[in-house]
Amino acid sequence: MAKMEVKTSLLDDMIGVGDMVLLEPLNEDSFINNLKKRFDHNEVYTYIGSVVISINPYRSLPIYTPEKVEEYRNRNFYELSPHIFALSDEAYRSLRDQDKDQCILITGESGAGKTEASKLVMSYVAAVCGKGAEVNQVKEQLLQSNPVLEAFGNAKTVRNDNSSRFGKYMDIEFDFKGDPLGGVISNYLLEKSRVVKQPRGERNFHIFYQILSGASEEFLCKLKLERDFSRYNYLGLDSARVNGVDDASNFRTVRNAMQIVGFMDHETQSVFEVVAAVLKLGNIEFKPESRANGLDESKIKDKNELKEICELTGIDQSVLERAFSFRTVEAKQEKVSTTLNVAQAYYARDALAKNLYSRLFSWLVTRINESIKAQTKVRKKVMGVLDIYGFEIFEDNSFEQFIINYCNEKLQQIFIELTLKEEQEEYIREGIEWTHIEYFNNAIICDLIENNQTGILAMLDEECLRPGTVTDETFLEKLNQVCATHQHFESRMSKCSRFLNDTSLPHSCFRIQHYAGKVMYQVEGFVDKNNDLLYRDLSQAMWKANHSLIKALFPEGNPAKINLKRPPTAGSQFKASVATLMKNLQTKNPNYIRCIKPNDKKAAHIFNEALVCHQIRYLGLLENVRVRRAGYAFRQPYEPCLERYKMLCKQTWPHWRGPARAGVEVLFNELGIPEEEFSFGRSKIFIRNPRTLFKLEDLRKQRLEDLATLIEKIYRGWKCRTRFLLMKKCQVVIASWYRRYSQQKKYQKIKSSAITVQSYIRGWKARKLLRELKHLKRCNEAATVIAAYWHGTQARRELKRLKEEARRKHAVAVIWAFWLGLKVRREYRKFFRANAGRKIYEFTLQRLMQKYFLEMKNKMPSLSPIDKNWPARPYLFLDSTHKELKRIFHLWRCKKYRDQFTDQQKLIYEEKLEASELFKDKKALYPASVGQPFQGAYLEISENPKYKKLKDAVDEKIIIAEVVNKINRANGKAASRIFLLTKNNVLLADQKSGTIKSEVPLGDVTKVSMSSQNDGFFAVHLKEGSEAASKGDFLLSSDHLIEMATKLYRTTLSQTKQKLNIEISDEFLVQFKQDKVCVKFIQGSQKNGNIPTCKRKNNRLLEVAVP
Ligand SMILES: Nc1ncnc2c1ncn2[C@@H]1O[C@H](COP(=O)(O)OP(=O)(O)OP(=O)(O)O)[C@@H](O)[C@H]1O
Ligand SMILES: [Mg+2]
Repeated sequence: MAKMEVKTSLLDDMIGVGDMVLLEPLNEDSFINNLKKRFDHNEVYTYIGSVVISINPYRSLPIYTPEKVEEYRNRNFYELSPHIFALSDEAYRSLRDQDKDQCILITGESGAGKTEASKLVMSYVAAVCGKGAEVNQVKEQLLQSNPVLEAFGNAKTVRNDNSSRFGKYMDIEFDFKGDPLGGVISNYLLEKSRVVKQPRGERNFHIFYQILSGASEEFLCKLKLERDFSRYNYLGLDSARVNGVDDASNFRTVRNAMQIVGFMDHETQSVFEVVAAVLKLGNIEFKPESRANGLDESKIKDKNELKEICELTGIDQSVLERAFSFRTVEAKQEKVSTTLNVAQAYYARDALAKNLYSRLFSWLVTRINESIKAQTKVRKKVMGVLDIYGFEIFEDNSFEQFIINYCNEKLQQIFIELTLKEEQEEYIREGIEWTHIEYFNNAIICDLIENNQTGILAMLDEECLRPGTVTDETFLEKLNQVCATHQHFESRMSKCSRFLNDTSLPHSCFRIQHYAGKVMYQVEGFVDKNNDLLYRDLSQAMWKANHSLIKALFPEGNPAKINLKRPPTAGSQFKASVATLMKNLQTKNPNYIRCIKPNDKKAAHIFNEALVCHQIRYLGLLENVRVRRAGYAFRQPYEPCLERYKMLCKQTWPHWRGPARAGVEVLFNELGIPEEEFSFGRSKIFIRNPRTLFKLEDLRKQRLEDLATLIEKIYRGWKCRTRFLLMKKCQVVIASWYRRYSQQKKYQKIKSSAITVQSYIRGWKARKLLRELKHLKRCNEAATVIAAYWHGTQARRELKRLKEEARRKHAVAVIWAFWLGLKVRREYRKFFRANAGRKIYEFTLQRLMQKYFLEMKNKMPSLSPIDKNWPARPYLFLDSTHKELKRIFHLWRCKKYRDQFTDQQKLIYEEKLEASELFKDKKALYPASVGQPFQGAYLEISENPKYKKLKDAVDEKIIIAEVVNKINRANGKAASRIFLLTKNNVLLADQKSGTIKSEVPLGDVTKVSMSSQNDGFFAVHLKEGSEAASKGDFLLSSDHLIEMATKLYRTTLSQTKQKLNIEISDEFLVQFKQDKVCVKFIQGSQKNGNIPTCKRKNNRLLEVAVP
């Protein structure tokens, strides 16, 4: 939303009057009272037209904030309450927009706030002008030049803790857009006498105290300085510390500022070296030494300080020492060297210190100018800010005060000229008749001082240049002669008898009636100070220094550029520079800030009326107001005037459509303001008397109140009406809602009643209909039942008829069939026999049998005797036949199978059969033997030559030849034997040699015993009493036990025709010689694999462990 522009005026919320032009009545008292009233309300600024009066508040007020800057930015001068920002803004805008160079002249006495005001102006301009990195750097450098110059050029005085001891004029340069480009600073007459001597209660320049308080130990050591102020003669001790001033931190600020402004490190270093040298110069002391010619010559007391100064500045010590003792005067190729006495030596020392310091200060200004000068050559717009020392009246006023006051005199002069000129110009511009105004013109005082022939400065110069003895007294005499008749010059010795008896005026003084008051000057020192004499020996010594800065400060010391002409005097230099300044200022549009000091105590809230009155008088402020008011007290452009007062006239309120001037004319005529009270300019209305303005203001106030009442009335009316309308609207809404609601209720009631009635009627109707329907249905059902009964009767009747008919037809067919059968039987009886049935039966049977056998043929199982397959039985009556056939078939195929065998195979199978009969299901070893063929002769007795002897001994056919183990009766261990079975005998022979060990005829073998288990042990029991039995029974073990036992059985049977007894038992007795030993088979461990082990347990028991 666009910010609403509120038009305000200086006249709003005024405390006293903001512009003294409007003061009524106008006299000194009302003027001071108005200032006091405003001062008490923290309004430190008051206008006299466009001049700003500023009263030093001596405390920080919250009126310089960035918000305030914004408030005053781009506002008309009279739009807001008086402020230094308003003046700055006006100046800056007319510079930027109207291309008019500006100057801001800040005047007032010491401590009135000129320097602060100049800084406020600069900071305001910096805040509102262009932005950007480059522009900001320029601004920063311009602003930071202040602390540097203040440190070197300001000092504490009794009037001001930060008194500027030099005059400063700064041109700030801008480009066409109003962006700052750079600046140029001019300095005026530094009060250098302060370097060597300060009045009581005052200090030397700040920088000396700042270095000693703020520099590091290391830096001080480099500068050969000590921190203690009391070590230095040049530092006044009684007020070395200033309340509220932190020298150490200020030193840091200064160094920082120097860096920002662009001082190189070596430059800063050189500057401080010079400052240190000045300080140390004060410590050089002299003593008198008598010479042969009777004259006193000065000598340096302690050369230590001198040595250090020379080390610091690179000056040859002997050269400097000589310069303090001798003075060379050159005149027309002649050089005369005279000795200096102690007083002259001290004079020379102080002159050197003052010169060093003041030249250093001028160098600093030049150096700063180098940094801040504008880089472009384009045309610049300039705003000059002049902050020059104020008018000074001390107890003892000397040359410096004379110069300072002369400068102020000139400024007052230019103020008068320019103010009047401007006033006059405005009248001409506006086409208003100019009336002459009486005012005090101080041109006469300026003339007294600066007149080229008879002026005081010219007298002084003349006196200084005059050959012969020149003293301050001769100068005063001269003044008395020349100026005696001048109205503003007063002296006891003048011929004018007016002051002959004025005891307040000592003989060594003269008094000038300045515009700001009478000032009495001590004539002592005028000549010296005007000469500003530095012995050439000293300047030459300085030029010889091995220190680039010091060398540069004393160019006249260069012997090559020796100039016998006297340098211009201080007075003439100053006069010239003031003249240049004035010329410069005259080309610019002036803006005035007139600073006033409210009290002498540097204290806030104290308003010393006498002091202020004095300042007002000498500043000529009252005259200023009078001049301003001489013709017309108040002027204002037509637009704002009409805007402000248009409510006072019906034609112009609320809108005036025509030009503003016509509007104002109508307005003034309507108000009946006498014609002599105002005048119409081209763009402004001029009001002669403030009373008229205040009348207007009163009327406006009254009218505003009326308008406020009117507005209030209208507003109230509007409010009530709106409220009423709103209530009415609400009422209508509520009523309509209520009506709707009640109608709704009613409707719902009717609706529900209608529904009830309706439902009754519907119910009644429905029931009626139901009844009808039920009746109808019953009728229908009855009809159906009747019809069904009738149909049923009909159907049954028909059925009965049909049944009757069918019975008859069937009976006919049966009778017919019987009859036919009878007929056929009768015909074919002769073709049938009585046993035909049997035949058919048999035929059928045969046919079935035939089929059975034919099918059987196709389903025959294989010829393998072990094949268990047999076709299923087809007919039950063939069950037994089928089984029989199966048996016959099996027998037949077994026979077939047997018929294939050779005799030998037959024998083998017989043996196998025998074995089966003997051992099947009795001996566990048997199943394993079934698959093994019975070979009999395992040992090739006949082929192996080893057994030739054995072969020869046995001539019968060998049935078994096999190696067996014979169990030793004593320990149960086994020994290998060859077991031979022949047709008649059993033989045991040695396995290795083949020697027969035992031979038993088969008739002597009674029994063979063995276990039921899976072992090959067997015992061959012999007939008791037989030859072979003398050694006892054999206990043997063989891998082919089943075969051996079977063959032994068969052979015995065929030879003896007796069956051999084979006993299968796990415990049997064996005859060993006389003893019977029991052989017992137990289930043993598998430690030895599958081999049974035999162990003799005791005499009667042999245990065989079978795995
Ligand atoms: N606007 C202000 N607000 C607050 N304090 C101020 C203001 N103006 C001046 N002062 C105070 O008054 C003191 C003196 O002001 P300033 O140094 O500007 O005086 P001056 O007129 O320059 O004096 P001189 O002629 O001795 O240089 C300042 O140090 C400051 O403390
Ligand atoms: Mg100052």
